[in-house]
Amino acid sequence: MPSNNRQEQMNEMYNRHAQAYAKVVKDNDYNAEFERPTTLAMLDRVMSDLTGKNVLDLGCGSGEYVAELLARGARVTALDLAAPMVELVQQRFVGDARVHCYQQDLALGLPLEQDGQYDLVLSPLMVHYLEDQRPFFAECARVLKPGGRLLFSTHSPVADAEASPSGNYYAREAITEQWDTVGVPVTVTFYRRSLSEQIGAVTQSGFVITALEEGTPTKRLRQRSPETYQRLTTQPNFLFVMAQKMR
Ligand SMILES: C[S@@+](CC[C@H](N)C(=O)[O-])C[C@H]1O[C@@H](n2cnc3c(N)ncnc32)[C@H](O)[C@@H]1O
Repeated sequence: MPSNNRQEQMNEMYNRHAQAYAKVVKDNDYNAEFERPTTLAMLDRVMSDLTGKNVLDLGCGSGEYVAELLARGARVTALDLAAPMVELVQQRFVGDARVHCYQQDLALGLPLEQDGQYDLVLSPLMVHYLEDQRPFFAECARVLKPGGRLLFSTHSPVADAEASPSGNYYAREAITEQWDTVGVPVTVTFYRRSLSEQIGAVTQSGFVITALEEGTPTKRLRQRSPETYQRLTTQPNFLFVMAQKMR
């Protein structure tokens, strides 16, 4: 699905810097030593063996999670808005019949996916790019089997409140920042919202929340980047949510 110019601009990090992003997230502090270990620990606590399970990875980026899901035995459908990310994943897992990857703007739902076919929907660090999350979570519920799981991570509403342009914690707002993730400053726009709006979008879409965490960095990070470790163990940064589709 072709994306329009506004989406391409908003998604510049993942469109123009896909290769650099792919390299960085393999081994950086925030993804490799904090976000992925927390998300995967939450997953493994509930369903570590994914043999024969159908998993939908929404906002798959360069495919770090696709690799983790395959290692646990899953069949993976991976979607992303950024065409370069989709190409990276298709190349990385070429010839592996367990992986199907295609371009999709998740603000427009999951028009190519049928009802009730997935055991798990995983969406790490993507939902803050959606202005309205309600239709997205409703689509996640639609494609899950009864009792299926949803696991996602996002920015902490508490941490993002500090960057509120209006100072109104309860307003939903676009925030534009410069991030140095790939070694050069890149403009990134995402949405912040209150904790009640974030959680309500999930619970009002047919899910019960079964776990909510704020993340634990690895011991390795303490050795490697003591300042980042100190920050991540004393200040909020991400929010991690596991939910189950009501039967
Ligand atoms: C921070 S990256 C996370 C990638 C991957 N989930 C990971 O954790 O390694 C966010 C991803 O979400 C994708 N994304 C942003 N907005 C999207 C949208 N509206 N529809 C689909 N994907 C989107 C971006 O292209 C990018 O690949």
